[in-house]
Amino acid sequence: MLEFFSKNNKLSDFSDLVTDVHSHLIPAIDDGAASLDQSLQLIKGLNYLGFKKLIITPHVISDFYQNTPEKINKGLLLLRNAVKQANIDVEIDVAAEYYLDYDFQNKLGNEKMLTFGSNYLLFELPFYNKPQVLEEVIFKMQTLGYTPVLAHPERYTYWYNDFKAYDDLKTRGVLLQININSLVGGYSAQARKIAEKLITNNMVDFVGSDTHNQHHIELLKKSLNNKYLIDLIKKGNLLNKTL
Ligand SMILES: [Fe+2]
Repeated sequence: MLEFFSKNNKLSDFSDLVTDVHSHLIPAIDDGAASLDQSLQLIKGLNYLGFKKLIITPHVISDFYQNTPEKINKGLLLLRNAVKQANIDVEIDVAAEYYLDYDFQNKLGNEKMLTFGSNYLLFELPFYNKPQVLEEVIFKMQTLGYTPVLAHPERYTYWYNDFKAYDDLKTRGVLLQININSLVGGYSAQARKIAEKLITNNMVDFVGSDTHNQHHIELLKKSLNNKYLIDLIKKGNLLNKTL
């Protein structure tokens, strides 16, 4: 019996995951934390829930958030300093959540991308229209030595009746990162169903909190007795703790 499972089979916290791989906690550079105070509150919340390391992943979307590695790294230094001053025992790192748009395709191969772990490149897709170039861009990332990690695969509506699309992604070598909050209805009943099915089929490589605000911290607390999440962590195949 591992110590992070209490008697009633509820997770006591997320300490077995060690690392959260997806959040928006650099102040005021995307739709996440709006101020340094808010960032610190959210980081404290995640740390209290057992996370020892946070890989913060600001949005990079050309129409909304033109975040550069320089800007993101500047935010990282600011936040590391504030975390130290506040005596929070947590390691902070950054990558990015790249939206697959025209700019992203142009940057690939021409500019340095922010990655985490073993050159893992976190990317997201439009929610309602599958990009025609998806397979081509996946291949390009791989050719450049990146391992693509698809953020919240359970949220893309065009795959809700096409589960084999996920098999195809896995066959191509794409790693899948589900959002923990999807398992407790954070988005929709359909997103929840897909996240559950991905777990049942052993297709999940990473979990992330995708924390933007306090509501997400509340959803994380709620997820501690979610049986799919408990099973997933119990199986021990998640890559979070390798980072
Ligand atoms: Fe995100």
